Amino acid sequence: MAYPVITIDGPSGAGKGTVCLKLAEALGYQLLDSGALYRIVGLKAVEAGLLGVESDGENGDIDANQIAKLTSDLDIQFLPNINTDDIDTNSGSGHHIRIVVDGQDVGNEIRNETIGHYASKVAVLPEVRSALLDLQQDMANEAGLIADGRDMGTVVFPNADVKIYLTASAEARADRRVNQLTDAGDNANYEAILASIKERDARDENRSVSPSKPAEDALVLDSSSMDADTVFAEIKKHCQRKGICF
Ligand code: DC
Repeated sequence: MAYPVITIDGPSGAGKGTVCLKLAEALGYQLLDSGALYRIVGLKAVEAGLLGVESDGENGDIDANQIAKLTSDLDIQFLPNINTDDIDTNSGSGHHIRIVVDGQDVGNEIRNETIGHYASKVAVLPEVRSALLDLQQDMANEAGLIADGRDMGTVVFPNADVKIYLTASAEARADRRVNQLTDAGDNANYEAILASIKERDARDENRSVSPSKPAEDALVLDSSSMDADTVFAEIKKHCQRKGICF
């Protein structure tokens, strides 16, 4: 039996995480955080000495086959979070799922800027992308699925029932990130964050394999001046038009 699939693609900071969590909860669907997969590969490649300041120079000395082999050998599990106290469904912060890799919970470790940087480095490698494909597609065989990423609607689930591309200006996303960091009591430098967002966008949008872009049949939403509830309401309306009612 085919279960319904809703894909939410777009750049980081556009609000995908928050709305995906709300959708998964409203519909009782599973949540695929595909960015976490690339972050895990980035983390494990660094730990294995395949990526890092020494080995990821611009002269292309990343060993894509070795990183893909490492990717295929990983045992990755998305498990329900039993400690629901740290989940904030309004902000999307906290972790709705536990991410366990080779028996180790990496949920917190993969969420920093450095690992985000390495994730975007391994995400350009076709060998890594194809090593992650089955794992992602298999998640749609178990239950309805909310798939959060960059190429969910274009490559991984081209037949998805509903496709959304959620974007926002780089400036709006930098503002949100500054607020998040400040709320958490951390220092935030707006200019540095904006530059890093632009650099990551350029790499994600211009890579030759599975670039981040809207599927032809996706609804494109710009969340620059929308709050999370408005984004959710717009997506809900679109789901209803496509026959997924809740
Ligand atoms: O959404 P995120 O920040 O956790 O994603 C981390 C990196 O992985 C980001 O540079 C984009 C990349 N990514 C990707 O190429 N394809 C996906 N489906 C998800 C994320």
